[in-house]
Amino acid sequence: MGIYQRKLFSADAEREDQAVCEKMVDLLSRDLDFHSEKGSYASHNFHAFPAKFPPQLPHRFIDALTHPGDTVLDPMMGSGTTVLEAFLLGRYGLGFDIDPLALLLAKTKVTPLDSRYLMQVVKEIVERARRAANEERVELENRLATLWTPKTQDFVEYWFAHDTQIDLLALISEIEQIADKEVEAFFKLALSAIIITKSGGLSLALDLAHTRPHRAKVVMDPAGQIVVGRDLSSNSFRRVKLLTKRLHSPFEEFEKRAQQNIRGLPIKSSARPQPYLTGLFGHEPDRILPGIALAHAQALPITGNSVDLIVTSPPYASNAIDYMRAHKFSLVWLGYKIDDLGEKRKEYIGGESTTRFVFEPLPEHTEAVVVDITKRDKRKGRVLHRYYSEMMRTLREMYRVLKPGKAAIVVVGSSVMRERDTETQICLAEIGQTIGFQVPHIGIRKLDRNRRMMPAGTHPDLDSRIQQRMHEEHIIGFYKPS
Ligand SMILES: C[S@@+](CC[C@H](N)C(=O)[O-])C[C@H]1O[C@@H](n2cnc3c(N)ncnc32)[C@H](O)[C@@H]1O
Repeated sequence: MGIYQRKLFSADAEREDQAVCEKMVDLLSRDLDFHSEKGSYASHNFHAFPAKFPPQLPHRFIDALTHPGDTVLDPMMGSGTTVLEAFLLGRYGLGFDIDPLALLLAKTKVTPLDSRYLMQVVKEIVERARRAANEERVELENRLATLWTPKTQDFVEYWFAHDTQIDLLALISEIEQIADKEVEAFFKLALSAIIITKSGGLSLALDLAHTRPHRAKVVMDPAGQIVVGRDLSSNSFRRVKLLTKRLHSPFEEFEKRAQQNIRGLPIKSSARPQPYLTGLFGHEPDRILPGIALAHAQALPITGNSVDLIVTSPPYASNAIDYMRAHKFSLVWLGYKIDDLGEKRKEYIGGESTTRFVFEPLPEHTEAVVVDITKRDKRKGRVLHRYYSEMMRTLREMYRVLKPGKAAIVVVGSSVMRERDTETQICLAEIGQTIGFQVPHIGIRKLDRNRRMMPAGTHPDLDSRIQQRMHEEHIIGFYKPS
């Protein structure tokens, strides 16, 4: 190829780069709040998840920046909003996460199942579990006494009323007898969904959304009888009322939730799509089943230059959401041990342990932010340095797997450490640029306080600039030049 020809190619590439970047600026400058849009269609509402995307957000970028059959990746997929939207738009969705609940949730959301069959199964599960809870109570009691490791047992005893434990064990025992693994996973997720809710679901926790969970002081069973604490109804203190919880019947809650999820199934099994096979692009892409697996965002099990778009959102820099803190409430019922979950917690991006951690050298501005926070609080400074180091490795990995001429949309929440903004969006943009990304634009969106499980309180002091920040997100547009 002569020099002249090569020059022509590079001029074409520059024009193409400019066109995509202009498109990204336009997409990122539009309204990104989506507050009036419905977020509960298809299987999007199968289960609560902290800091979940409104589905319209990944939808906008997937629709505008890819074509049917293209590959769309979320390396920190959480509840799988991006993967599900990719699937609904006929793209090949790829999703990874290290959280076992995220894996179960994202997989189940895109698994086509026969809804009529599921409706029958849910009735059978509830009928048999109810019977077992009545007729085989002694056996269930004995199993409860030997089921757990000591730490797990302490956790379950502290957070679940005894009758709830019996009913949950009866339900999970029925679910575990289902031979079809996909059907079993569907019902496990429905069980998890009635435990992990903003108000602590079937557990004794009053809140599983933003703070460290608090245990109810007064607990009533579904019939209104007090089972923990004493009658404080004559006490007019508001705080006492706030610490009271009325438990619901696990059987009724499970049946309602499972039926609701069945109605949300995105496609029926009769229209079951072909599993994805490498090399099938070009053939009618129609709904290709997504690829979903457990993996670290810093070491993705996919080849380089293979992805057409990334839409993702990492954890907060300040570890504002402790995913495992809420997730363990249901994971213990799905066979996980508290001891193992505690270890797993250290692996999350934004985690606080820095022992034996290998730090990355940071670019100038990011380094200055870390130094400033270190001056205020040495430990917090190290935690932030860990965060930016992990995000540097993650962005490098995203750069590696993206095809040239393609975009990564990264949504980040604002964080404050020792009253200083961590400037997450500016630092990540700077880190991305050192890796080779262009950053055509950073958009901003306001969070809907009523809808989202968020780190900050739901009634923030409106005068507080910091609190206001916690209710904003930035959307960074990264572009890998062609
Ligand atoms: C903000 S949430 C993503 C929410 C998602 N956008 C949604 O719509 O549900 C961040 C996710 O990053 C995951 N995560 C944390 N550390 C990770 C790591 N090292 N590798 C992959 N995922 C990780 C968490 O488990 C969590 O699910």
